[in-house]
Amino acid sequence: MINPIADKRILLGVTGSIAAYKAVDLASKLTQNGAQVDVILTESAAKFVSPLSFQSVTGRKAYTDEDLWGGYGHVTHVGLGHAAELMVIAPASANTMAKIAHGIGDNLLTVTALAARCPLMIAPAMDVGMYGHPATQANVDILKQRGAVFIGPEEGHLASGLVGPGRLSEPLTILGVIRYQLSRGGKLAGCKVVVTAGGTQEPIDPVRMITNRSSGKQGYAIAQAALDAGAEVVLISGAAHLPVPGGARLVPVVTAAEMKQAVLEETCDADVLIMAAAVADFRPAQAASDKIKKETGVPEIRLEPTEDILLAVSEQKGRIGRPRRVVGFAAESQDLLNNARRKLQSKNLDLIVANDITASDAGFEVDTNQVTLLFADGRTESLPNQSKAAVAAHLMGRVGEWFQPPLSGT
Ligand code: CTP
Repeated sequence: MINPIADKRILLGVTGSIAAYKAVDLASKLTQNGAQVDVILTESAAKFVSPLSFQSVTGRKAYTDEDLWGGYGHVTHVGLGHAAELMVIAPASANTMAKIAHGIGDNLLTVTALAARCPLMIAPAMDVGMYGHPATQANVDILKQRGAVFIGPEEGHLASGLVGPGRLSEPLTILGVIRYQLSRGGKLAGCKVVVTAGGTQEPIDPVRMITNRSSGKQGYAIAQAALDAGAEVVLISGAAHLPVPGGARLVPVVTAAEMKQAVLEETCDADVLIMAAAVADFRPAQAASDKIKKETGVPEIRLEPTEDILLAVSEQKGRIGRPRRVVGFAAESQDLLNNARRKLQSKNLDLIVANDITASDAGFEVDTNQVTLLFADGRTESLPNQSKAAVAAHLMGRVGEWFQPPLSGT
Protein backbone atom coordinates (compact mmCIF):
# COMPACT_ATOMS: atom_id res chain seq x y z
CA MET A 1 0.00 0.00 0.00
CA ILE A 2 1.57 3.26 -1.00
CA ASN A 3 0.70 6.83 -0.14
CA PRO A 4 -2.22 7.63 -2.48
CA ILE A 5 -0.80 11.11 -3.10
CA ALA A 6 2.37 9.69 -4.68
CA ASP A 7 2.63 10.36 -8.43
CA LYS A 8 -0.73 12.15 -8.60
CA ARG A 9 -1.10 15.26 -10.76
CA ILE A 10 -2.57 17.85 -8.42
CA LEU A 11 -3.65 21.30 -9.52
CA LEU A 12 -3.39 23.84 -6.71
CA GLY A 13 -5.30 27.07 -7.25
CA VAL A 14 -4.26 29.99 -5.04
CA THR A 15 -6.43 33.11 -4.72
CA GLY A 16 -6.04 36.51 -3.09
CA SER A 17 -5.95 36.07 0.66
CA ILE A 18 -3.45 36.82 3.38
CA ALA A 19 -3.47 33.04 3.91
CA ALA A 20 -1.87 32.53 0.46
CA TYR A 21 1.50 32.03 2.15
CA LYS A 22 0.16 28.83 3.73
CA ALA A 23 -0.44 27.47 0.23
CA VAL A 24 3.34 27.42 -0.29
CA ASP A 25 3.61 25.03 2.65
CA LEU A 26 0.78 22.92 1.23
CA ALA A 27 2.47 22.79 -2.19
CA SER A 28 5.68 21.74 -0.45
CA LYS A 29 3.97 19.00 1.57
CA LEU A 30 2.17 17.65 -1.50
CA THR A 31 5.48 17.56 -3.38
CA GLN A 32 7.20 15.81 -0.47
CA ASN A 33 4.43 13.20 -0.61
CA GLY A 34 5.35 12.51 -4.23
CA ALA A 35 2.70 14.54 -6.09
CA GLN A 36 3.36 16.58 -9.22
CA VAL A 37 1.91 19.93 -8.25
CA ASP A 38 0.88 22.52 -10.82
CA VAL A 39 0.08 25.85 -9.20
CA ILE A 40 -2.11 28.57 -10.66
CA LEU A 41 -2.12 31.95 -8.92
CA THR A 42 -4.76 34.59 -9.51
CA GLU A 43 -3.60 38.16 -10.02
CA SER A 44 -4.43 39.05 -6.42
CA ALA A 45 -2.76 35.88 -5.07
CA ALA A 46 0.45 36.98 -6.79
CA LYS A 47 0.30 40.21 -4.78
CA PHE A 48 0.56 38.20 -1.55
CA VAL A 49 3.07 35.56 -2.63
CA SER A 50 5.24 35.14 -5.68
CA PRO A 51 5.03 32.37 -8.29
CA LEU A 52 8.72 31.81 -7.65
CA SER A 53 7.96 30.66 -4.09
CA PHE A 54 5.77 27.89 -5.49
CA GLN A 55 8.21 27.00 -8.25
CA SER A 56 10.95 26.67 -5.67
CA VAL A 57 9.04 24.07 -3.64
CA THR A 58 7.34 22.15 -6.48
CA GLY A 59 10.18 22.21 -9.00
CA ARG A 60 7.52 22.97 -11.63
CA LYS A 61 6.28 26.08 -13.36
CA ALA A 62 3.72 28.12 -11.41
CA TYR A 63 1.14 29.70 -13.70
CA THR A 64 -0.39 33.20 -13.67
CA ASP A 65 -2.79 35.07 -15.93
CA GLU A 66 0.15 35.97 -18.17
CA ASP A 67 0.09 32.34 -19.28
CA LEU A 68 -3.58 32.65 -20.21
CA TRP A 69 -3.12 35.78 -22.26
CA GLY A 70 0.18 34.59 -23.70
CA GLY A 71 0.56 32.73 -26.99
CA TYR A 72 -0.51 29.32 -25.63
CA GLY A 73 -3.53 30.46 -23.64
CA HIS A 74 -6.12 28.13 -25.07
CA VAL A 75 -3.81 25.16 -24.59
CA THR A 76 -2.66 26.01 -21.08
CA HIS A 77 -5.96 25.81 -19.26
CA VAL A 78 -7.29 22.79 -21.15
CA GLY A 79 -3.95 21.02 -20.73
CA LEU A 80 -3.74 21.73 -17.01
CA GLY A 81 -7.43 20.95 -16.43
CA HIS A 82 -7.32 17.63 -18.23
CA ALA A 83 -4.03 16.44 -16.76
CA ALA A 84 -5.16 17.07 -13.17
CA GLU A 85 -6.35 14.12 -11.07
CA LEU A 86 -7.45 16.49 -8.32
CA MET A 87 -7.98 20.25 -8.21
CA VAL A 88 -7.58 22.00 -4.87
CA ILE A 89 -8.25 25.70 -4.36
CA ALA A 90 -6.55 26.87 -1.17
CA PRO A 91 -7.09 29.57 -0.10
CA ALA A 92 -10.35 30.09 -1.98
CA SER A 93 -11.72 33.64 -1.84
CA ALA A 94 -15.45 34.47 -1.88
CA ASN A 95 -14.93 35.97 -5.33
CA THR A 96 -13.36 32.86 -6.89
CA MET A 97 -15.99 30.58 -5.32
CA ALA A 98 -18.72 32.82 -6.74
CA LYS A 99 -17.19 32.71 -10.19
CA ILE A 100 -16.78 28.93 -10.23
CA ALA A 101 -20.30 28.42 -8.86
CA HIS A 102 -21.69 30.45 -11.76
CA GLY A 103 -19.44 29.19 -14.53
CA ILE A 104 -17.51 32.42 -14.98
CA GLY A 105 -14.05 31.96 -16.46
CA ASP A 106 -12.29 35.31 -16.55
CA ASN A 107 -8.80 34.30 -15.44
CA LEU A 108 -6.54 31.27 -15.80
CA LEU A 109 -7.71 29.68 -12.54
CA THR A 110 -11.45 29.93 -13.17
CA VAL A 111 -11.20 28.98 -16.83
CA THR A 112 -9.11 25.93 -15.84
CA ALA A 113 -11.73 25.01 -13.21
CA LEU A 114 -14.28 25.00 -16.04
CA ALA A 115 -12.06 22.78 -18.18
CA ALA A 116 -11.12 20.33 -15.39
CA ARG A 117 -12.93 16.99 -15.15
CA CYS A 118 -11.39 15.84 -11.86
CA PRO A 119 -12.75 16.13 -8.29
CA LEU A 120 -12.64 19.64 -6.81
CA MET A 121 -11.67 20.51 -3.24
CA ILE A 122 -12.10 23.99 -1.83
CA ALA A 123 -10.51 25.45 1.30
CA PRO A 124 -12.08 28.89 1.81
CA ALA A 125 -10.39 31.81 3.57
CA MET A 126 -12.07 35.17 4.06
CA ASP A 127 -13.47 37.45 6.67
CA VAL A 128 -16.28 36.12 8.82
CA GLY A 129 -18.85 38.51 7.36
CA MET A 130 -17.97 37.57 3.78
CA TYR A 131 -18.19 33.87 4.54
CA GLY A 132 -21.51 34.27 6.33
CA HIS A 133 -23.01 36.45 3.57
CA PRO A 134 -26.06 34.77 2.01
CA ALA A 135 -24.51 35.06 -1.46
CA THR A 136 -21.35 33.19 -0.35
CA GLN A 137 -23.38 30.57 1.50
CA ALA A 138 -25.56 30.03 -1.59
CA ASN A 139 -22.41 29.58 -3.69
CA VAL A 140 -21.02 27.09 -1.18
CA ASP A 141 -24.28 25.12 -1.46
CA ILE A 142 -24.13 25.13 -5.27
CA LEU A 143 -20.56 23.90 -5.26
CA LYS A 144 -21.29 21.21 -2.65
CA GLN A 145 -24.28 19.98 -4.66
CA ARG A 146 -21.98 19.66 -7.64
CA GLY A 147 -19.70 17.42 -5.57
CA ALA A 148 -17.01 19.85 -4.42
CA VAL A 149 -15.45 18.81 -1.10
CA PHE A 150 -15.01 21.68 1.36
CA ILE A 151 -12.20 21.82 3.89
CA GLY A 152 -12.89 24.38 6.61
CA PRO A 153 -12.95 27.27 7.04
CA GLU A 154 -11.87 27.05 10.65
CA GLU A 155 -13.00 29.28 13.47
CA GLY A 156 -10.37 31.66 14.78
CA HIS A 157 -8.79 35.10 14.81
CA LEU A 158 -9.03 36.64 11.35
CA ALA A 159 -6.86 39.32 9.73
CA SER A 160 -9.68 41.84 10.32
CA GLY A 161 -9.39 41.31 14.06
CA LEU A 162 -12.75 39.56 14.18
CA VAL A 163 -13.18 36.03 15.50
CA GLY A 164 -15.30 33.46 13.67
CA PRO A 165 -15.32 31.01 10.76
CA GLY A 166 -13.08 32.15 7.92
CA ARG A 167 -9.58 30.93 8.67
CA LEU A 168 -7.86 28.71 6.13
CA SER A 169 -7.44 25.17 7.46
CA GLU A 170 -3.87 24.25 8.31
CA PRO A 171 -1.84 22.75 5.43
CA LEU A 172 -1.49 19.47 7.37
CA THR A 173 -5.28 19.23 7.70
CA ILE A 174 -5.78 19.97 3.99
CA LEU A 175 -3.12 17.39 3.16
CA GLY A 176 -4.95 14.79 5.28
CA VAL A 177 -8.24 15.42 3.50
CA ILE A 178 -6.54 15.20 0.08
CA ARG A 179 -4.85 11.94 1.06
CA TYR A 180 -8.18 10.55 2.29
CA GLN A 181 -10.07 11.55 -0.87
CA LEU A 182 -7.45 10.03 -3.14
CA SER A 183 -7.48 6.73 -1.22
CA ARG A 184 -11.18 5.96 -1.60
CA GLY A 185 -11.70 2.94 -3.86
CA GLY A 186 -8.57 1.19 -2.51
CA LYS A 187 -8.34 -2.55 -1.80
CA LEU A 188 -10.07 -2.26 1.57
CA ALA A 189 -12.93 -0.07 0.29
CA GLY A 190 -16.09 -1.09 2.14
CA CYS A 191 -14.15 -2.55 5.09
CA LYS A 192 -14.39 -1.17 8.59
CA VAL A 193 -11.04 -1.36 10.38
CA VAL A 194 -10.80 -0.60 14.09
CA VAL A 195 -7.32 0.27 15.38
CA THR A 196 -6.34 0.77 19.01
CA ALA A 197 -3.27 2.82 19.84
CA GLY A 198 -1.25 4.19 22.72
CA GLY A 199 -1.14 3.27 26.36
CA THR A 200 -3.99 3.36 28.84
CA GLN A 201 -3.93 5.40 32.06
CA GLU A 202 -5.18 3.91 35.32
CA PRO A 203 -5.82 6.54 38.01
CA ILE A 204 -4.29 6.31 41.48
CA ASP A 205 -5.82 9.63 42.59
CA PRO A 206 -6.94 12.76 40.67
CA VAL A 207 -3.30 13.65 39.98
CA ARG A 208 -1.41 10.39 39.58
CA MET A 209 -1.79 7.37 37.39
CA ILE A 210 -0.21 4.13 36.20
CA THR A 211 0.65 4.18 32.52
CA ASN A 212 3.32 2.84 30.17
CA ARG A 213 5.81 4.02 27.57
CA SER A 214 3.67 3.37 24.49
CA SER A 215 3.68 6.48 22.26
CA GLY A 216 0.86 5.37 19.96
CA LYS A 217 3.03 6.02 16.89
CA GLN A 218 2.76 2.50 15.47
CA GLY A 219 -1.03 2.40 15.95
CA TYR A 220 -1.48 5.81 14.29
CA ALA A 221 0.69 4.69 11.37
CA ILE A 222 -1.53 1.61 11.02
CA ALA A 223 -4.66 3.79 11.03
CA GLN A 224 -3.10 5.88 8.23
CA ALA A 225 -2.16 2.77 6.24
CA ALA A 226 -5.70 1.39 6.61
CA LEU A 227 -7.10 4.70 5.34
CA ASP A 228 -4.64 4.63 2.44
CA ALA A 229 -6.01 1.18 1.59
CA GLY A 230 -9.51 2.67 1.34
CA ALA A 231 -10.93 1.41 4.65
CA GLU A 232 -13.29 3.20 6.97
CA VAL A 233 -11.14 3.64 10.08
CA VAL A 234 -12.02 4.02 13.74
CA LEU A 235 -9.06 4.89 15.95
CA ILE A 236 -9.55 4.09 19.63
CA SER A 237 -6.73 5.89 21.31
CA GLY A 238 -5.17 6.77 24.61
CA ALA A 239 -2.55 8.91 22.84
CA ALA A 240 -4.16 12.34 22.90
CA HIS A 241 -1.09 14.21 21.65
CA LEU A 242 -0.74 12.75 18.15
CA PRO A 243 -2.42 14.27 15.05
CA VAL A 244 -5.33 12.10 13.91
CA PRO A 245 -4.92 10.87 10.31
CA GLY A 246 -7.39 12.66 8.01
CA GLY A 247 -10.61 10.70 7.62
CA ALA A 248 -10.20 8.51 10.73
CA ARG A 249 -12.89 8.70 13.40
CA LEU A 250 -11.25 9.14 16.79
CA VAL A 251 -12.67 7.55 19.92
CA PRO A 252 -10.57 8.92 22.78
CA VAL A 253 -10.24 6.68 25.83
CA VAL A 254 -8.25 6.82 29.03
CA THR A 255 -8.54 3.55 30.96
CA ALA A 256 -8.41 -0.10 29.95
CA ALA A 257 -12.09 -0.43 30.92
CA GLU A 258 -13.04 2.45 28.58
CA MET A 259 -10.96 0.94 25.82
CA LYS A 260 -12.66 -2.43 26.26
CA GLN A 261 -16.11 -0.89 26.03
CA ALA A 262 -15.19 1.16 22.93
CA VAL A 263 -13.56 -1.84 21.23
CA LEU A 264 -16.57 -4.10 21.79
CA GLU A 265 -18.97 -1.39 20.58
CA GLU A 266 -16.96 -0.55 17.47
CA THR A 267 -16.08 -4.08 16.44
CA CYS A 268 -19.61 -5.51 16.47
CA ASP A 269 -19.92 -4.45 12.81
CA ALA A 270 -16.21 -4.31 11.93
CA ASP A 271 -14.18 -6.40 9.52
CA VAL A 272 -10.83 -6.06 11.24
CA LEU A 273 -9.54 -5.19 14.71
CA ILE A 274 -5.89 -4.25 15.04
CA MET A 275 -5.04 -4.14 18.71
CA ALA A 276 -1.83 -2.10 18.76
CA ALA A 277 -2.56 -0.44 22.12
CA ALA A 278 -0.48 -1.18 25.19
CA VAL A 279 -3.29 -1.95 27.60
CA ALA A 280 -2.58 -1.86 31.33
CA ASP A 281 -2.70 -5.32 32.85
CA PHE A 282 -3.21 -3.98 36.38
CA ARG A 283 -4.97 -0.99 37.89
CA PRO A 284 -5.32 0.38 41.41
CA ALA A 285 -8.18 -1.52 43.01
CA GLN A 286 -9.50 1.74 44.42
CA ALA A 287 -8.61 5.15 42.96
CA ALA A 288 -8.54 7.79 45.74
CA SER A 289 -11.12 10.53 45.16
CA ASP A 290 -8.82 13.18 46.68
CA LYS A 291 -5.11 13.73 46.14
CA ILE A 292 -3.08 11.46 48.41
CA LYS A 293 -1.09 13.67 50.80
CA LYS A 294 2.48 13.08 51.95
CA GLU A 295 1.50 13.54 55.59
CA THR A 296 -0.50 10.34 55.51
CA GLY A 297 2.69 8.38 54.85
CA VAL A 298 3.82 6.26 51.91
CA PRO A 299 0.65 4.73 50.46
CA GLU A 300 0.26 1.06 49.69
CA ILE A 301 -1.50 0.74 46.38
CA ARG A 302 -3.28 -2.55 45.91
CA LEU A 303 -3.60 -3.54 42.27
CA GLU A 304 -6.23 -5.65 40.56
CA PRO A 305 -6.12 -7.11 37.05
CA THR A 306 -7.83 -5.36 34.16
CA GLU A 307 -9.86 -7.42 31.75
CA ASP A 308 -8.13 -8.82 28.70
CA ILE A 309 -9.79 -6.98 25.80
CA LEU A 310 -8.72 -9.47 23.15
CA LEU A 311 -10.25 -12.35 25.12
CA ALA A 312 -13.55 -10.44 25.24
CA VAL A 313 -13.28 -9.80 21.50
CA SER A 314 -12.64 -13.49 20.87
CA GLU A 315 -15.82 -14.32 22.79
CA GLN A 316 -17.78 -11.74 20.75
CA LYS A 317 -16.34 -13.04 17.48
CA GLY A 318 -17.43 -16.56 18.40
CA ARG A 319 -20.92 -15.29 19.19
CA ILE A 320 -21.64 -12.87 16.30
CA GLY A 321 -18.80 -13.43 13.83
CA ARG A 322 -17.47 -9.87 14.23
CA PRO A 323 -14.86 -8.66 13.88
CA ARG A 324 -14.05 -11.04 11.04
CA ARG A 325 -10.29 -10.85 11.62
CA VAL A 326 -8.24 -9.92 14.67
CA VAL A 327 -4.61 -8.78 14.78
CA GLY A 328 -2.78 -8.54 18.10
CA PHE A 329 0.60 -7.21 19.13
CA ALA A 330 3.18 -8.74 21.41
CA ALA A 331 5.81 -6.45 22.85
CA GLU A 332 8.38 -8.70 24.49
CA SER A 333 11.72 -8.29 26.16
CA GLN A 334 12.59 -12.00 26.12
CA ASP A 335 11.76 -15.20 24.22
CA LEU A 336 9.97 -13.11 21.58
CA LEU A 337 8.63 -15.70 19.17
CA ASN A 338 7.54 -18.30 21.73
CA ASN A 339 5.72 -15.71 23.81
CA ALA A 340 4.09 -14.24 20.71
CA ARG A 341 2.98 -17.67 19.44
CA ARG A 342 1.47 -18.45 22.83
CA LYS A 343 -0.52 -15.18 22.74
CA LEU A 344 -1.58 -15.82 19.12
CA GLN A 345 -3.22 -19.06 20.26
CA SER A 346 -4.52 -18.08 23.70
CA LYS A 347 -6.15 -14.87 22.36
CA ASN A 348 -7.52 -16.65 19.24
CA LEU A 349 -5.87 -14.23 16.80
CA ASP A 350 -5.48 -14.42 13.03
CA LEU A 351 -2.13 -12.66 13.17
CA ILE A 352 0.21 -11.34 15.84
CA VAL A 353 2.86 -8.68 15.34
CA ALA A 354 5.82 -9.46 17.58
CA ASN A 355 8.38 -6.86 18.46
CA ASP A 356 11.45 -6.95 20.63
CA ILE A 357 11.29 -3.88 22.83
CA THR A 358 14.88 -4.21 24.03
CA ALA A 359 16.28 -3.04 20.65
CA SER A 360 17.10 0.70 20.75
CA ASP A 361 15.75 1.42 17.26
CA ALA A 362 12.50 -0.54 17.64
CA GLY A 363 9.44 -0.46 19.86
CA PHE A 364 8.36 2.35 22.16
CA GLU A 365 8.71 6.06 21.33
CA VAL A 366 11.07 5.77 18.31
CA ASP A 367 9.95 6.16 14.67
CA THR A 368 11.28 2.81 13.51
CA ASN A 369 10.28 -0.73 14.33
CA GLN A 370 11.40 -4.28 13.68
CA VAL A 371 8.67 -6.87 13.80
CA THR A 372 7.90 -10.47 12.96
CA LEU A 373 4.43 -11.41 11.74
CA LEU A 374 3.13 -14.75 13.03
CA PHE A 375 0.00 -16.04 11.27
CA ALA A 376 -2.56 -18.46 12.68
CA ASP A 377 -1.72 -20.97 9.92
CA GLY A 378 1.89 -21.21 11.17
CA ARG A 379 3.52 -18.88 8.63
CA THR A 380 6.02 -16.37 9.97
CA GLU A 381 7.44 -13.32 8.23
CA SER A 382 10.35 -11.31 9.62
CA LEU A 383 10.46 -7.73 8.42
CA PRO A 384 13.60 -5.59 8.35
CA ASN A 385 14.01 -2.60 10.66
CA GLN A 386 12.09 0.18 8.94
CA SER A 387 9.86 3.16 9.63
CA LYS A 388 6.64 2.53 11.53
CA ALA A 389 4.82 3.80 8.42
CA ALA A 390 6.50 1.09 6.32
CA VAL A 391 5.68 -1.59 8.92
CA ALA A 392 2.06 -0.39 8.88
CA ALA A 393 1.86 -0.40 5.08
CA HIS A 394 3.22 -3.96 4.97
CA LEU A 395 0.81 -5.13 7.65
CA MET A 396 -2.18 -3.60 5.86
CA GLY A 397 -1.01 -5.26 2.64
CA ARG A 398 -1.28 -8.63 4.42
CA VAL A 399 -4.66 -7.69 5.92
CA GLY A 400 -5.84 -6.67 2.42
CA GLU A 401 -5.09 -10.21 1.18
CA TRP A 402 -7.78 -11.56 3.52
CA PHE A 403 -10.38 -9.50 1.71
CA GLN A 404 -9.54 -10.26 -1.91
CA PRO A 405 -11.77 -10.39 -3.85
CA PRO A 406 -13.45 -7.40 -2.16
CA LEU A 407 -16.27 -8.03 0.32
CA SER A 408 -19.81 -7.82 -0.84
CA GLY A 409 -23.02 -7.53 1.19
CA THR A 410 -22.92 -7.68 5.02
N1 CTP B 1 -4.21 -6.77 25.43
C1 CTP B 1 -5.56 -6.73 25.66
N2 CTP B 1 -6.04 -6.52 26.91
C2 CTP B 1 -5.22 -6.40 27.95
C3 CTP B 1 -3.81 -6.49 27.76
C4 CTP B 1 -3.35 -6.66 26.46
O1 CTP B 1 -6.33 -6.84 24.69
N3 CTP B 1 -5.72 -6.21 29.18
C5 CTP B 1 -3.72 -6.97 24.06
C6 CTP B 1 -2.70 -5.97 23.57
O2 CTP B 1 -3.32 -4.84 22.97
C7 CTP B 1 -1.90 -6.77 22.56
C8 CTP B 1 -1.98 -8.18 23.08
O3 CTP B 1 -3.08 -8.22 24.00
O4 CTP B 1 -2.47 -6.75 21.26
C9 CTP B 1 -0.77 -8.64 23.81
O5 CTP B 1 -0.46 -7.69 24.82
P1 CTP B 1 0.80 -7.90 25.76
O6 CTP B 1 0.87 -6.79 26.75
O7 CTP B 1 2.00 -8.21 24.93
O8 CTP B 1 0.39 -9.26 26.47
P2 CTP B 1 -0.42 -9.58 27.74
O9 CTP B 1 -1.55 -10.46 27.37
O10 CTP B 1 -0.76 -8.34 28.49
O11 CTP B 1 0.62 -10.47 28.55
P3 CTP B 1 2.00 -10.05 29.28
O12 CTP B 1 1.88 -8.59 29.61
O13 CTP B 1 2.02 -10.91 30.50
O14 CTP B 1 3.12 -10.35 28.34
